[in-house]
Amino acid sequence: MLNRTALEALTQRPLPFLGSAWPWRSAAYLLASAVPGAAVGVGAFATVSLGWVAAPVVLALSLPLVAWFERRRLRLVDGVPLPEVPDRRSREAGLAVFTVLALWWIDLIMLAFTVGGPVLLILSPVVQPSGDEVVAVVASAGGVLLLPVAAYTITAWGGARGTMVRAMLAPQAFELSEVLRSRARLVDAFELERRRIERDLHDGAQQRLVALSMTLGLARLDLPDDSPAGRLIERAHDEAKQALAELRELIRGVHSQVLTDRGLGAAIRDVAGRSPVPVDVAVELDGRLPAPVEVTAYYVVSEALANLAKHSQATGGAVAARVERGTLVVEVRDDGVGGADPAKGTGLTGLADRLAVVGGRLSLSSPVGGPTLIRVEIPCG
Ligand SMILES: Nc1ncnc2c1ncn2[C@@H]1O[C@H](COP(=O)(O)OP(=O)(O)OP(=O)(O)O)[C@@H](O)[C@H]1O
Ligand SMILES: [Mg+2]
Repeated sequence: MLNRTALEALTQRPLPFLGSAWPWRSAAYLLASAVPGAAVGVGAFATVSLGWVAAPVVLALSLPLVAWFERRRLRLVDGVPLPEVPDRRSREAGLAVFTVLALWWIDLIMLAFTVGGPVLLILSPVVQPSGDEVVAVVASAGGVLLLPVAAYTITAWGGARGTMVRAMLAPQAFELSEVLRSRARLVDAFELERRRIERDLHDGAQQRLVALSMTLGLARLDLPDDSPAGRLIERAHDEAKQALAELRELIRGVHSQVLTDRGLGAAIRDVAGRSPVPVDVAVELDGRLPAPVEVTAYYVVSEALANLAKHSQATGGAVAARVERGTLVVEVRDDGVGGADPAKGTGLTGLADRLAVVGGRLSLSSPVGGPTLIRVEIPCG
């Protein structure tokens, strides 16, 4: 496995970990704290020799440099690129102040203790040449045994510090909202494309079929009913009417005009009214909801009712929709055979994807033998 951060490297087995560059990189990361430490030293010296006015000047000059340095050295323990955030400057300033006040000396003390302890033990025959030789050798051996422990401690602290710096420079929530935003953009683009297809079908293919159907109707009037040509034209006329009905159904599936014009309640009644299985509708909605909420809820009801007709063998179903404390709750149930499984098709997982974009939730209860209940909650705010 490719380790991208020091913390990930810690999960390796001991030998590959100890043989890797990560303990060294972490040590270098912590040792680099000497640089902001030196900046603090220079600042203190300038303040003492030039008076208090020097302090804000040194601070203003050094903070951007410290922030830049923190960003660069983070790569030693964290190879994942940092995302761009809108409030980058203020975040960097906060991190720089934190580094100057606290982080740099904590790093150096940490490094001094973890590495200094074992090194002093190893050197004890040299450091205390007059002492008991056996004790010195045992201490030396103990020091060698402590080195791997030091490697773990340094990598753990380096990794944890890196995670903290990353959190300060680019919070997780930002990455998440960025992902959601890009998903929302995708769904918006998809929605636009749907509307274009709907308009093209409506203004193009549908108009031609209407014209064809009318022409065939007129031709049939001109031919005697019992002539072979008359019968053929009659059949063609029926087929054209059927094609028109199917096309209208398809257009409605691509984009519901009722939904755009009259809102979710009317659109739910419209879909339920066209269901081959009788469906009760209980809609308690006052006024319109935000467009993405209405469109998402509409697709949920359409898909759930299509599934009800295709798979459930139910004798009846029900759709309920209401707003509870700022959340739209839609429930579709049937008294059919149950056993709905999102893994078996694309319809239910597609709904879950759509819901994720608007921050909604889908729950499904469908034991084998029935009944089936699909419930979605979509925040309206
Ligand atoms: N109301 C229901 N009653 C019983 N079984 C259902 C019901 N809804 C779905 N299922 C089962 O769950 C499976 C998955 O449904 P899903 O909507 O994800 O896919 P699909 O309807 O088969 O295909 P698609 O929706 O992609 O055209 C279906 O194949 C069906 O077996
Ligand atoms: Mg389906």
